[in-house]
Amino acid sequence: MGAAERHPLSPRLDHCPQGLPQAAYLGADWFAQEMTTVFARNWHFAGRLADLPPGIMRRIRLGHAEAILCRTPDGKVTAFHNSCRHRGSELCQKAEQSLNRLITCPYHAWSYAADDGRLVSTALARPTDDFRREDHGLVPCSVQIWAGMIFVSASPAPPELRGDVPLSTLDNWPVASLVTGHRWETALDCNWKVFWENYSECLHCPGIHPELCEMVPLYSKGIMGQSEALGWTPDTPAARNLRPGAESWTPTGAPCGPVFPDLTMAEREAGYHFVTIWPTVYIVAHVDYVRSVRIEPLSPEKTRLTAEWYFPAETLAQPGFDAAEVAAFPKLVMEQDGAAAEMNQRGIRSPSYAGGRLMPEEYEIHRFHQWLLAEMEAAP
Ligand code: FES
Ligand SMILES: [Fe+2]
Repeated sequence: MGAAERHPLSPRLDHCPQGLPQAAYLGADWFAQEMTTVFARNWHFAGRLADLPPGIMRRIRLGHAEAILCRTPDGKVTAFHNSCRHRGSELCQKAEQSLNRLITCPYHAWSYAADDGRLVSTALARPTDDFRREDHGLVPCSVQIWAGMIFVSASPAPPELRGDVPLSTLDNWPVASLVTGHRWETALDCNWKVFWENYSECLHCPGIHPELCEMVPLYSKGIMGQSEALGWTPDTPAARNLRPGAESWTPTGAPCGPVFPDLTMAEREAGYHFVTIWPTVYIVAHVDYVRSVRIEPLSPEKTRLTAEWYFPAETLAQPGFDAAEVAAFPKLVMEQDGAAAEMNQRGIRSPSYAGGRLMPEEYEIHRFHQWLLAEMEAAP
């Protein structure tokens, strides 16, 4: 095999597939279909358990569905569609409100048990015998908690919660016990897929992320992993990802606090681990902190990004510790990505744009497109 060839085990594509059409990024119909299929079925990251104290009800969006995420006073996590079974009023009017054992509709005061949604009272209304209370409980959403992270699906039968790599990749990180130290939220003028596509390749890294390329020298070659390099073979010895001397994505490259004690040498050497859970979140585990980035489509050309940084309590307790300072480097990279995604979106609006061809290095975008199209065909 010559140095310029692709090894069969390399993730590089052996062809240049067609990307999605322009309508996928601009069209209201396409967007509506995504909301009623992909986003109605799949798991949405809805924040961490540690950040949802008992006695709170919070409104969340699951694609085209409004839902309420509840933490009962006993600590149980439940979620329901935000629609009363009487005449459909919304149940929770604020972004967040306190919750007791009952969810009471603000319209005619029907009340439902927060722990299972059963209809407890119809208030002043006196239904006749043909009305069976047990048939009028709130419509539940599915809830799953993994690593202290809450996932909600509007579907009663959601697919298995999966990442691009096994979720067990993060088993040695004590994610559930970490404390949220910093949060950053922004709204981008781009389609949600444009942000994910940008996340899925590094051909843009040398031009868009000079600081990141300095931290991760491999990225300056336009690739995300060594196996993408032409001439790579399974015998090629693994090299460190971070520049010499750097252990984490911090301003100096030094860990910002104690390193997670259960990491293997290989996990420390790698410097970071990404876990991608389409369509709403990716998680990055460093040797000293973990962060998540949530992606929420708001409209065909508007996407909300919420990034959170999670630290051990001891790290946050260090005198003079400033989580915002640690967050600054990944935030800079995300701002650069956000600006690139908005630039991409503006160009996609050109009437001349008819969809592009993906390059072999964009294998992950191709996989994302294939997943999306299959999800849009699947039953909700
Ligand atoms: S709509 Fe909720 S009680 Fe009437
Ligand atoms: Fe990037």
